[in-house]
Amino acid sequence: MNKTLLKSVREFKKETVLTPIFVILEVLMEVLIPLQMAKIIDVGIQQGDLPYILKMGGILVVMAMLALFFGAVAGATAAKAGAGYARNLRHDIFYKIQEFSFKNIDNFSTSSLVTRMTTDITNVQMAYMMTIRLLARAPIMMILSWIMTLTINVKVAMLFLVAAPLLGFALIFIAKKAHPLFVQVFDQYDVLNNDVQENVNAARVVKAYVREDHEIEKFHGISLLVFKLFTKAEKIVAWNSPVMQFMMYTVIIVIVLIGGEDIILGTMEPGELTSVMIYAIQILMSLMMVSFVFVMNMIAEASTDRIQEVLEEVPEMQDKPDAVKEVKDGEIIFENVDFSYAGEGGPLALKNVNLHIRSGQTIGIFGGTGSAKSTLVSLIPRLYDVTKGSVKVGGIDVRDYNLEALRDQVSMVLQKNVLFTGSIYDNIRWGDEDASDEEVQRVCRLAQADGFIREFPEGYDTQIVEGGNNVSGGQKQRLCIARALLKKPKILILDDSTSAVDTKTDALIRKAFREEIPNTTKIIISQRVSSIEDADQIIILDDGRIDGVGTSEELLKNNAIYREVYESQMKGGEDNE
Ligand SMILES: Nc1ncnc2c1ncn2[C@@H]1O[C@H](COP(=O)(O)OP(=O)(O)OP(=O)(O)O)[C@@H](O)[C@H]1O
Ligand SMILES: [Mg+2]
Repeated sequence: MNKTLLKSVREFKKETVLTPIFVILEVLMEVLIPLQMAKIIDVGIQQGDLPYILKMGGILVVMAMLALFFGAVAGATAAKAGAGYARNLRHDIFYKIQEFSFKNIDNFSTSSLVTRMTTDITNVQMAYMMTIRLLARAPIMMILSWIMTLTINVKVAMLFLVAAPLLGFALIFIAKKAHPLFVQVFDQYDVLNNDVQENVNAARVVKAYVREDHEIEKFHGISLLVFKLFTKAEKIVAWNSPVMQFMMYTVIIVIVLIGGEDIILGTMEPGELTSVMIYAIQILMSLMMVSFVFVMNMIAEASTDRIQEVLEEVPEMQDKPDAVKEVKDGEIIFENVDFSYAGEGGPLALKNVNLHIRSGQTIGIFGGTGSAKSTLVSLIPRLYDVTKGSVKVGGIDVRDYNLEALRDQVSMVLQKNVLFTGSIYDNIRWGDEDASDEEVQRVCRLAQADGFIREFPEGYDTQIVEGGNNVSGGQKQRLCIARALLKKPKILILDDSTSAVDTKTDALIRKAFREEIPNTTKIIISQRVSSIEDADQIIILDDGRIDGVGTSEELLKNNAIYREVYESQMKGGEDNE
C-alpha cells in the first residue's frame, strides 16, 4: 500500500473502514461456533439431553446465519471500496495526463499510460479489496482461535506456536521466489500492449508494406515470453497448496495424538477435540490468507510504482499566480534562444536564435528536414520551454501568460495532426465550442474546405472516423487549418500544413489569409518555395541555427541554401509547364 495512491480512496473511506468491522463480527461468530458445537457434543449428546441440543442447535444456526450475513456485507463493502478506489485512481491519472506538457508526454509512451490505467489499476484494486477483507480477518482469527484453544488444551495451543511460524516462513519464502517473475511479467505486458497498439494504430501501414507475417511473429514472441514467465511464476506459487495441506494434516495428526491421550486420561472431552481441530484449520487457513494477501500486494507493488510515477510526474508548466490573460498583439521576439529536448546540458536543437516578427506579418520558415523548424515554432505557444534566452509574444515573455489564454491566441496547426471521431462540425468546433454554424462555415471557406465538404452527401454533418482516415490527406489538412482559424488567433502557425494541398488551392488559402485576417501574424513552414515566396520575411534554418532572414528577393542574392532550393524548384516548375 502506498501513500500517494491511497489519497485516491477519498469518499470510499467509509467502506474501507466498515469492511474490517464486519469482518471482525464475522470472525467472532466463526470462533464461537466450534465452542457451541463442543457444548452440544459434550453436554447435550453425552447426557442425552434433547431439549438442550435443540436449544443450543438453534443458537448455532443463528450464529451461522449471522456469520454469513456479516461475511456477505463485508464482501460487498470491500468490493465497493476496491472498485471506487480504482475509479478515483483512474480519474486522477486521467486528470494528471491532461496537465502534462509536451515534455511530460515525451516521458511516457502512450501504451504504457494505457497499461497503467487498465491492468495496473486492476491489480491495485484487487490487492486493496483483498487487503481490507483479509488483513483484519486473518490475525484476529488466529489470535481468537489460539486463545480458544488455550482455554481448552494448553499443549495443543503450544503446538500452534511452532506450526504457525513454520508455515508462515514457508509461504513467505514461496512468495519471495515468485515476486521477481511477476515484476517481469508486468514489464512484458507493457511491451505486449505497446506492440499491439502500434500494430493496430498503423494497421494500414502494416498492410501496405505486407508486414503482417513479421508483425505476427513479433507478437508471438512477446506473447510466448509472457506465457513462459507467467507459468514459471505460477508454478512457484502453486507450491502454496501442497505445503499448506502437508502442514494441516501433520498438525491434525499431532492434535489427535495429544488430544487422544488427554481424552483417555480424562482431561479432555471428545467435543473439545472437534473444536480444537476446527480452530487448527482456521488458524492455518488464516495463515494461508495472509500469504495470499502478501502475494497479491507484491504483484500490485510493481503496478503501484508505475501508477505513482504518473501521479508524481510534476507538470512542467504551471501558471504563475499573476499570469497575463490577454495577448496584446501578434508580435514575436526570440532573444538568444537555446533549446534542448533533454533540458539543460542536452544536445541543442536550437542554437542562439534571435528573431523579431512584427504583428500581422506573414513569415515563411524554410529549411531541410530536421533543421528544427517545428521545434522553433513550438516555443511560441509554449509547447516547450526554452532552455536559455526568452520568447516574447505581444511584448510579454510566454512564461508569464496564462497557458490557456496564450494557446487560445496562438493557434498552431501541428505537423502531425489528427481529427477526432465525430462530425465535421464537432471537429472544427475544437477551436471554439460555442461557434455558430455560420462561423464554422466561414472558417472552412477561408481554409478552402467549404467546397469539398459540401460535396459530401451529408455535408458538414459527415462523420469523421477515428484518426480522420475517411478524408484525403489534403482535405484533412484544410479541416485542421479551419479548426485553428476558428479560435480567431492573433498568431496562426501552419507547420507544413498544406503539403498535401495542390499549389493552386494553397495559393487561394494564402490569398484568403491576406484579405480576411490581415492583423493576424501568420507563420508558414513549408518545403515549397511557392508557399512562402511572397512572405514579408523568410527565415532559413539550418541545423538549429538561423542561416538567413529576409524577403525572397534578398535571400536569392545572399543565401546559398535558399537560392539552391529556389532554383531547383522553380526550374522543375517550368519543366512541368
Ligand atoms: N520530442 C522530441 N524529443 C527529442 N528530440 C526531438 C523531438 N522532436 C524533434 N526532435 C529532434 O529535434 C531536431 C529538430 O526536429 P524538428 O522536428 O524541429 O525538425 P523539422 O525542421 O521540423 O523537420 P521536418 O521538416 O522533418 O518536419 C531533430 O534532430 C529531431 O530529432
Ligand atoms: Mg517539422
